Parts: sequence; C-alpha cells; structure tokens
Amino acid sequence: MIFVTGGAGYIGSHTCVELLMAGHDVTVYDNFSNSQWEATERVQRIAGRTMAVVRGDIRDGAALQAALHASGAKAVVHFAGLKAVGESEAEPLKYYDNNVLGTVRLLEAMAACGVKTLVFSSSATVYGVPEVLPYREDHRLSATNTYGMTKLVVENMLRDLHRSDADWRIGILRYFNPVGAHSSGLIGEDPQGTPNNLMPYVAQVAVGRREFLNVWGNDYPTPDGTGVRDYIHVVDLALGHVKALDYLGANTGCVSVNLGAGVGHSVLDMVRSFEAASGRPVPFKVGPRRAGDLDAYWADASLAQALFGWRVERGLDVMCEDTWRWQNMNPNGYKGEK
Ligand code: NAD
Ligand code: UD1
Repeated sequence: MIFVTGGAGYIGSHTCVELLMAGHDVTVYDNFSNSQWEATERVQRIAGRTMAVVRGDIRDGAALQAALHASGAKAVVHFAGLKAVGESEAEPLKYYDNNVLGTVRLLEAMAACGVKTLVFSSSATVYGVPEVLPYREDHRLSATNTYGMTKLVVENMLRDLHRSDADWRIGILRYFNPVGAHSSGLIGEDPQGTPNNLMPYVAQVAVGRREFLNVWGNDYPTPDGTGVRDYIHVVDLALGHVKALDYLGANTGCVSVNLGAGVGHSVLDMVRSFEAASGRPVPFKVGPRRAGDLDAYWADASLAQALFGWRVERGLDVMCEDTWRWQNMNPNGYKGEK
C-alpha cells in the first residue's frame, strides 16, 4: 500500500494510475485545494482498479496520522503542496505553512506509524541560476523565489532527518517541466484561472479559449531567442516514481535524482509541435521577458537511469498529442462549464 499525498493533482493523479497498474494498492490523501474529486474517479476508471481517497489536509497532523495508520501503507509519495511562483512571492507564509510545515506534520505522522520510506516532489528550481549545464544533482543549490525556497528547505530537512536516523529511505525527485496528459484523454492538467505555465496556455489558445500566446521574450542567448526548458511527459514522470519506490524498497539512503528528458526545447519549438499535433494554429505575440525567468536549462538525466533504470520514452510529439487530446475532450477541465 502506498499513501499518496496530493494524489488528486496533476502529477499525483498520473502517478496513481501507474502505481495501480504496477499492482500497488493506493490511498490518496488530498484537501482538493487545487484539484477535483472527479480526477480520482477517472484514475480508477483508467486503471480498472479501486483506490481509497481521503479528504484531508497534511497540516492537520491528527487526521493525517489517523489516515496513514488506517491505510496500512509502507511508503509515502508526497505531492501535496502549493506551486505558483508568483503567489509564493505575494503570500510567502502560506507557502511555508503548506509546503514546509505540512511536510513536518507528514514526517511526524510517518515516524509515529513506523513508515520510513518517502518519495518527495522537488523541482529543478532548487538549482537556481545555472553555473554549469546540464544540471547535475551535485550542482550548487539555491533559490530565487519563495516557492523554490520551500522546496530547498524541505530537501535540507529530509537530508537532516536521514542523518539522524539511517533507517529512513528517501528519494528526492527533482522534476523538470512536466507536460502532457494520460493517453486516454481522461486525466490531465486542469489549471484554475489563467495558466502561468506554457503548455496549458498553448493548449487553451489552440482550442480557442484564448486569443494568442504571449511569448515572454525572444532576446535570450538561445538558438531562436526564446526560453529553453527540459519538458518531460507526465506519464514518464509518473513511471519515475514507481521506479523510485522499487529502488527504495531495495536500498536505504537519501538520494536526490533529476527526472528530466535531458534535452532542451524552446518556446517556439513547443508552439510548432503543438500546431503539428493539433492541426490548429497557435497565434503568438512576443512580449517582454517575464521577471525571474531563466534563459535556458535542462537535466543531466543519467543518475535516474543508473539508479532506477529509468529514462523518458515519450518525445515532444507525444507530449503535444496527449495534451491536445485532454484539452479537446475536456475543454473546460474536470468541471465542465466554468
Ligand atoms: P497540483 O496542484 O496539481 O497537485 C498538488 C495537490 O496537492 C493538489 O491536488 C492539491 O489539492 C493538494 N494539496 C495542496 N496542499 C495540500 C494540503 N495542505 N493538504 C493536502 N493536499 C494538499 O500540482 P502538481 O503539478 O501535481 O505538483 C505536485 C508536486 O510536484 C508539488 O509539490 C509541486 O510543487 C511539485 N512540482 C511540480 C512541478 C510542475 O511543474 N507541475 C514541477 C516541479 C515540482
Ligand atoms: C515555472 C516556474 C518554476 C517551476 C516550473 C514548473 C516561474 C518563474 N518558474 O518554470 O519555478 O518549477 O514552472 O514547471 O514561474 N512562457 C511563455 N509564455 C507563457 C508561459 C511561459 O513564453 O505564457 C515561457 C517562459 O518564459 C519559459 C517557458 O515558456 O521560457 C516555460 O515556462 P513555464 O511553463 O512557466 O515554466 P518555467 O518558467 O520553466
């Protein structure tokens, strides 16, 4: 049994599908602050298996411990948290409360239940401004915004915890840019309001919900002047969690591992791929750079291959086709009309 905090969210829902398909039993624990119950129903439909779903907040230590104990889980995958960079700058305490204190409560509950295997959702944002590319796991760590700092604080907390008690088995997974959706078109990314991230915005332009994409800057020192990122299909990312759990089942330790494709693509690469996959135009206007954006980064993904035997299998075309199927089948997300 795997206990999945934030399992109703974008990455969590895709990971629950792959956990169920791999034969694991699953309990989701989510407060639905940024997700819909419907996502958990669809996960079970895709996998053809049931899972337990508990509505609860990770900051509610007593409820969390009761749910973890009742689940009988042997490991936790911890997705629950807030992730909007702009909001984290405006409301830092909300981010420290959810992401940092929420994780403290989770670790306390795990210790009380004798569950000492954890996979944590970190982010490439912990590398800060690149000193060397691609980012390797031993790159210097820093944060350029409050969201990134909450990830860094939790990473440090996990390393300290493991130093205090070597029985912990901890996988810190540093995600690059997750995009795409399950190939069924039943689950996908469902941002509330105006999307901050590139792919959901592009998809909403293609489907006609928005007029054009704002390209944030075309004067970066990159091949076409637009920002370069390492985009990873969310199903590949989800499979990385299954592999990480297998690894932690066989190895003690606290490891930090990049989950990325190992290649960079520009904003205009993404626009062209999406137009090809959808057969729809994606009009765009070039605007100024977005504050806080980096010009280019991508992962060295070799450690994940060496430790977990994992690497990405889905390219840009599949990322765009699957995003488009999800967007087309669910033009207004899980809630239907918005
Ligand atoms: P998401 O918002 O779709 O999922 C997070 C889930 O956690 C949601 O279902 C939300 O309702 C739940 N949640 C939030 N606070 C909670 C709380 N206090 N108690 C219980 N549940 C709570 O986000 P996602 O894109 O699936 O991201 C999952 C994790 O991966 C997050 O920790 C995020 O920071 C991290 N991450 C995401 C990205 C990305 O680009 N999506 C990149 C790197 C890291
Ligand atoms: C953002 C977050 C980062 C987080 C990551 C998760 C910021 C500053 N950073 O990173 O902390 O870990 O999401 O995936 O918010 N772009 C446009 N137009 C748009 C949206 C994006 O041109 O409407 C460009 C951006 O300038 C960037 C690229 O597309 O070059 C990707 O942007 P985005 O999807 O927001 O991800 P990141 O900036 O990598």
